[in-house]
Amino acid sequence: MADRPFLPYGRQTIDEDDIAAVTQVLRGDYLTTGPNSASFDQVLAQSTGARHAIGCANGTAALHLAALALDLGPGDCVVVPAITFTATANAARFVGAEVEFADVDPLTGLMRVDDARAAIARAQAKGWKVRALFPVHLAGQVCDMAGLAELARDHDLAVVEDACHALGGVFDGHRVGDCAFSALSVFSFHPVKTVAMGEGGAVTTNDDALAGRLRDLRSHGITRDPTRFQRPDLAFDEHGQPNSWHYEMLDLGFNYRLSDIACALGLSQLAKLPAFVARRAQLVARYDRLLAPLAPLLFPTNRRPRQNPGWHLYVALVDFPGLGRSRAQVMESLRTRGIGTQVHYIPVPDQPYYVARYGRPILPGAQAYFLKCLSLPLYPGLGDDDQDRVIDALFQELRP
Ligand SMILES: Cc1ncc(COP(=O)(O)O)c(C=O)c1O
Repeated sequence: MADRPFLPYGRQTIDEDDIAAVTQVLRGDYLTTGPNSASFDQVLAQSTGARHAIGCANGTAALHLAALALDLGPGDCVVVPAITFTATANAARFVGAEVEFADVDPLTGLMRVDDARAAIARAQAKGWKVRALFPVHLAGQVCDMAGLAELARDHDLAVVEDACHALGGVFDGHRVGDCAFSALSVFSFHPVKTVAMGEGGAVTTNDDALAGRLRDLRSHGITRDPTRFQRPDLAFDEHGQPNSWHYEMLDLGFNYRLSDIACALGLSQLAKLPAFVARRAQLVARYDRLLAPLAPLLFPTNRRPRQNPGWHLYVALVDFPGLGRSRAQVMESLRTRGIGTQVHYIPVPDQPYYVARYGRPILPGAQAYFLKCLSLPLYPGLGDDDQDRVIDALFQELRP
């Protein structure tokens, strides 16, 4: 066993062609703001089916840009599911908006329409102006977007899909990120995600005005477009010719750009997205089949209908009290067998920052999901023999 590699819960899949793509940029003229950055936005838009893609530094920056582009701010409230990475909620706080946490389905971890509706009512009772829903496509499964979009219409809310887990998925005839039911969708290209860029993120949208704002905000709020200049005295020389050096800062933006190095890797990885999604789906189906005898001590999350998810995580729900062992004990024992597992996620409202701000809301679905969830190794480079090691280890842990 000692010579067998440790199997983490997630990792990047990098081939020689990815390395060659990055090396080529390093030998070229543009390390940033070059042709790879422009191509990455184009190819991601094509891949998701959205009119625009705005690549940016990471998924957290993408969420921040989304909150800024929607003009969310103090006095506003965003509804965020309790089960997600902290960044989804933090994006509202970055711009001074409040967060109302919604409960989730204990068997999928996803925010349902009724969870969002109840959260809106709680926020309104506090006197907050609810402006947006940030549903999260946890593990790759897509929320009920048609239902959430209808709820958002009824309450005049913007919808931002946190699709950081879900790139490459298809649901109800839509590609994740096509924004058919939302203003904006947000992605992360962290190494454990389906497409790896080291650090990377993006926002997709079909709204030209939002796309323009996102591009400005990604790069200091600065424009070089003469049609938008407000200072003709600086923009033109004494002969009325444009000054080539002129630029104007129209908004308070950030440096959230991606480098061409990261974009070259992203482009190389995006070309393999269908293969990555297919291998992940194969591994998920294999886990489902081979782990089935462990039910009801261990069973997969419920599957949403009419979806082919771009699976990011394989979450098993484990009855630890029924097993008579704590999650920590099981995780540690698996670790000694060379198998990495993880918890996705501690409910965000239980984080000390949010407890100090809002107290502890009672969200039973989120608590039930949290107590059971355990993410097993899932990445395209996981071979069937590696997966068999995970499955054997789980049988030994749960049925010694
Ligand atoms: C659901 C979700 N939202 C947002 C993020 C933030 O993405 P990044 O790590 O690229 O900033 C993550 C990353 O882990 C995530 O899982």
